Amino acid sequence: MTHFGVTLSQFIMEEQRRFPEATGNFTLLLNDIAVSCKMIAAAVQKGQLANVLGATDNENCQGETQQILDVIANELFIKNNANRGHVAAMASEEMDDVFNIPENVPRGNYLLIFDPLDGSSNIDINGPIGTIFSILKTDKKNPTEEDFLQEGTKQVCAGYCLYGSATMMVLTIGYGTHGFTLDPAIGEFILTHPNMQIPSSTAEYAINQANRNLWEPPMRKYIDECDLGVEGPRKKKFTMRWVGAMVMDIHRLIQRGGLFAYPMDSSLTEKGGRLRLMYEANPMAFLVEQAGGIASTGYERILDLAPEKLHQRVPVIMGSTDEMKIILDNHKAFAKEAGKEFTHQCKSYA
Ligand code: AHG
Ligand code: MN
Ligand code: MN
Repeated sequence: MTHFGVTLSQFIMEEQRRFPEATGNFTLLLNDIAVSCKMIAAAVQKGQLANVLGATDNENCQGETQQILDVIANELFIKNNANRGHVAAMASEEMDDVFNIPENVPRGNYLLIFDPLDGSSNIDINGPIGTIFSILKTDKKNPTEEDFLQEGTKQVCAGYCLYGSATMMVLTIGYGTHGFTLDPAIGEFILTHPNMQIPSSTAEYAINQANRNLWEPPMRKYIDECDLGVEGPRKKKFTMRWVGAMVMDIHRLIQRGGLFAYPMDSSLTEKGGRLRLMYEANPMAFLVEQAGGIASTGYERILDLAPEKLHQRVPVIMGSTDEMKIILDNHKAFAKEAGKEFTHQCKSYA
């Protein structure tokens, strides 16, 4: 049956009343993003019938083989946003450099940066995948990479679309984290999860355990203590879940609490981490904080990091406050011992 809820566009239009200077461009931009995600969802759902599975012969600038769907999703975002007059420039995981809006096309004040297809290794196995996006502002007409390098606190909007059993869009414009479910009967995202709140306590974590021997001591200590179960210092039984698509792993924790971590490990020192700051860590950190959680590298609040490069990688640890406090305390103690800096401060961890 049809849901009599608020559509995504209606919700954004109403939210825009908070900003008296708003021109309506933001609503239109969000609409174009939603259309792009609906098109990706349609391709994802057809799978092999639409010939969208498998790999291309190309690598992206990060040395990862591009899947056919990575490329299609990226092209859909470009096609639906480049000529609409709302963005000044775009950037994505799948493009080495900033995508400049063609000459003679009107430009808006927004910078759109995205991970077109997150969890690429799940594409061919019909597993959950997603799209992540972050919106920044600029007054430049021809922005360069430098204009994108703004702290996460400057994001005006962040969101993800999860192509799971249902297609869901989850977003924040700085006033809570809200979830919308795609109603395929009418082709609209409907507000189904207003003001999502991450439960502060949990007994579930998501981490790639195969990297255990490579983690830094504070992360290993935390997981080892969880794994000791009822007999250990945590006195409860924990569960481990790892989908391998951060959109899904973080969506789960926003819904029922938990922890998501891709921490620093000794194989990642040179790269700086596994996940990318501008289009994975920052938007997810904004969503998690707006839902009442904490997001950190272990030592620094993710949203306070000063970005240095478009494709910069960072360690990511985020989730329920009670667990995050233990992890941050572990890092703080280790930092003191190892002579490292610890600066994480946020509303829930002073
Ligand atoms: P992407 O598909 O955009 O490259 O991102 C995949 C990321 C993230 O979503 C996921 O949590 C992580 O890579 C999985 O890493 P492992 O393969 O090491 O488990
Ligand atoms: Mn990704
Ligand atoms: Mn990706």
